[in-house]
Amino acid sequence: MSLTQFSSAWTMKPGAASRAKLPLPLIATIICTFAFIALLYTESLGFLSSNSIFKIKSCSRKDSIFKSNDRISNEKTDALLIDDRFDFDPEECTVGNGKWVFNRSIKPLYTDRSCPYLDRQVSCAMNGRPDSNYTHWEWQPEDCILPRFDPELALKKLRGKRLLFVGDSLQRGQWQSFVCLVESIIPEDKKSMKRGRIHCVFKAKEYNATIEFYWAPFLVESNSDVQIIGDPKKRILKVDSVAKHAKHWIGVDILVFNTYVWWMSGLKIKSLWGSFANGEEGYEELDAAVAYRIGLKTWANWVDSTINPNTTRVFFTTMSPTHQRSADWNNKEGIKCYNETGPVRKKGHWGTGSDKRIMKAVSDVVEKMKVPVTVLNVTQISEYRVDAHSSVYTESGGKLLTEEQKADPLHHADCIHWCLPGVPDTWNQIFLANL
Ligand SMILES: *[C@@H]1O[C@H](CO)[C@@H](O)[C@H](O)[C@H]1NC(C)=O
Ligand SMILES: *[C@@H]1O[C@H](CO)[C@@H](O)[C@H](O)[C@H]1NC(C)=O
Ligand SMILES: *[C@@H]1O[C@H](CO)[C@@H](O)[C@H](O)[C@H]1NC(C)=O
Ligand SMILES: *[C@@H]1O[C@H](CO)[C@@H](O)[C@H](O)[C@H]1NC(C)=O
Ligand SMILES: *[C@@H]1O[C@H](CO)[C@@H](O)[C@H](O)[C@H]1NC(C)=O
Ligand SMILES: *[C@@H]1O[C@H](CO)[C@@H](O)[C@H](O)[C@H]1NC(C)=O
Repeated sequence: MSLTQFSSAWTMKPGAASRAKLPLPLIATIICTFAFIALLYTESLGFLSSNSIFKIKSCSRKDSIFKSNDRISNEKTDALLIDDRFDFDPEECTVGNGKWVFNRSIKPLYTDRSCPYLDRQVSCAMNGRPDSNYTHWEWQPEDCILPRFDPELALKKLRGKRLLFVGDSLQRGQWQSFVCLVESIIPEDKKSMKRGRIHCVFKAKEYNATIEFYWAPFLVESNSDVQIIGDPKKRILKVDSVAKHAKHWIGVDILVFNTYVWWMSGLKIKSLWGSFANGEEGYEELDAAVAYRIGLKTWANWVDSTINPNTTRVFFTTMSPTHQRSADWNNKEGIKCYNETGPVRKKGHWGTGSDKRIMKAVSDVVEKMKVPVTVLNVTQISEYRVDAHSSVYTESGGKLLTEEQKADPLHHADCIHWCLPGVPDTWNQIFLANL
């Protein structure tokens, strides 16, 4: 698609788009291309541009003790509501089925001032975001009670262990969220942080535990992993190779993977196989969903052939939705996620920023794996949270957005990454409940 077509498709109104019979996936793709180009490449990826996304699936090896919940009397007598939800049990509870409930008295366990490990990119309050309602929403599954994040419990579960988040900048967000959720209960001299371009390690010394992040935005290898290539057309993926990254994942006790947004550049994915006798010219161009499935199978084969499920837990976080198109949630006047102040109320809301084909690839591949993978299914719950992205309270090229840039949200609002504290804290709440 030429640039001209590209921008005219972009400026087309949603109605016009449907008259022209532009298929939704294409629109989503275009939108995502914008997202990528604008945010992932030209802006500072920092050294830690990976994201954390969580997803939950019920294959926890915890013994499932089904406790029916008759805790009606004490705290809830005033409301006279009978809460028949049971205590969280990954086997029994579909976490994604529920709602966001506003509760002003909820205080996040950290702020972007109290936690020294947050990137500027996600430190919305420090970057000038004036409203704070987005930090007071709690996810409530319909059938069960999701326990609040307990830092002490988290550190106890990690005692003597290595926890490694692997993936893109959303996975990095989840990693930072996790570190910030636990770090405040650790005295200054009992913790350390080492940040590298690719690999970051937070240590909780008394617990002999590490919480680490490894940057591999596609999980499989590409020519854009270390030196990020701004132009998606020049990126080439080795869809059947993962060993170069994966050798750094060996010996870890708890692995949490994600990969999504980098595949959604809107272009075909240039994919290489085998030992490329033809050098980099030997690539084939594949649809993103096809290339994704092959790449994910490569990852799955590595897990199945390398991981001992008796000693290692494996998690996979599903897609973190992007919110680039306000018509998705019926805000016709909106500009992407800019100025949104609350979650979408419509149950089951699903926008064009979450690609169903990718979700299907994840369920298909994970289902067939030998090693049990706990899917942290965060997509639906995050789909509602159009209010919780960094928007214009972020940075570009290492600098806070200028007033002019802030006044131009169409080009500068980040509707991919999430403010911290924020939605990724809930992903970690779900993660901990499954750990
Ligand atoms: C709101 O949060 C507070 C503090 O965590 C809690 O005590 C209270 O029960 C919550 N209220 C509702 C309605 O859930
Ligand atoms: C924050 O939420 C409260 C309660 O729902 C509401 O009264 C208030 O207007 C909200 N503030 C903003 C800025 O949306
Ligand atoms: C600390 O944890 C590592 C694995 O992360 C383990 O190899 C080592 O033996 C542990 N050390 C102590 C003192 O427990
Ligand atoms: C895992 O544990 C089971 C039961 O103790 C044992 O049969 C199996 O061989 C172990 N698997 C590996 C890969 O060590
Ligand atoms: C965004 O919200 C601010 C503060 O509520 C308001 O002043 C501004 O006009 C809004 N911008 C748009 C484009 O709606
Ligand atoms: C995640 O949840 C959605 C519904 O919210 C479902 O359609 C999808 O299949 C789930 N994904 C996986 C991999 O389990």
